[in-house]
Amino acid sequence: MRNLLQLNTSLFSNGGRSSQLADTFAADWQAANPGSNVVVRDLATNPVPHLTGERFQAFLTKPEDRTKAQRREADVSDQLVAEIQAADVLVIGLPLYNYGVPSTLKAYFDHIARAGITFRYTANGPEGLLKGKKAYLFATRGGIHAGFPRDTQTNYVRDFLAFLGITDVEFIYAEGLAMGDAVAKPAFEKASLAAHRLASLVPENRLAA
Ligand SMILES: Cc1cc2nc3c(=O)[nH]c(=O)nc-3n(C[C@H](O)[C@H](O)[C@H](O)COP(=O)(O)O)c2cc1C
Repeated sequence: MRNLLQLNTSLFSNGGRSSQLADTFAADWQAANPGSNVVVRDLATNPVPHLTGERFQAFLTKPEDRTKAQRREADVSDQLVAEIQAADVLVIGLPLYNYGVPSTLKAYFDHIARAGITFRYTANGPEGLLKGKKAYLFATRGGIHAGFPRDTQTNYVRDFLAFLGITDVEFIYAEGLAMGDAVAKPAFEKASLAAHRLASLVPENRLAA
């Protein structure tokens, strides 16, 4: 069975433009992959806690040595890690907020970066352990940034996912969404079409093997 994990990270939950694009992709993908499983995690309605020193220490402590409180904290991370480990396809609705990723997504990333579990250090540098996955990022922006040095979001997300071993990554941009209908409408429509097209390509080109 194929699994898709969808992360909606818009402040506006389902109403966010990035969530709408991720929803479009996931619905088509599920239709194109009968018997598949889609897990949706909405980080606005169900946020992951901010990483603290205590939580990080809980991750580092061996399971058998954890206190009750540390077990509770590590459980949150373990569940998120299990969810992404099980996913063949990762879909992220990725708004640009104040030149960065939503802080909820950063908190999520801080909970899935686990030494020895999702990455490990080797003599040749870090090695990501979440291999064989394909990620689609539906990036929505009020302005136009892709391809300019100020778009640090793209590189950050690409680098972080690669650090965990997710190197097959595709960004789909809907930009200029705050620049009036003449810019915003075609930009969003183009991204929606890409979501439909990419979702239906998946079984043929990516996952049939
Ligand atoms: C809090 C906040 C910060 C934003 N910061 C930026 C920004 O730095 N650059 C930009 O181009 N657009 C910015 N925008 C516009 C959003 O990127 C745009 O509304 C996009 O559609 C957000 O995705 P969403 O609809 O999925 O939430 C911001 C919007 C909000 C609400």
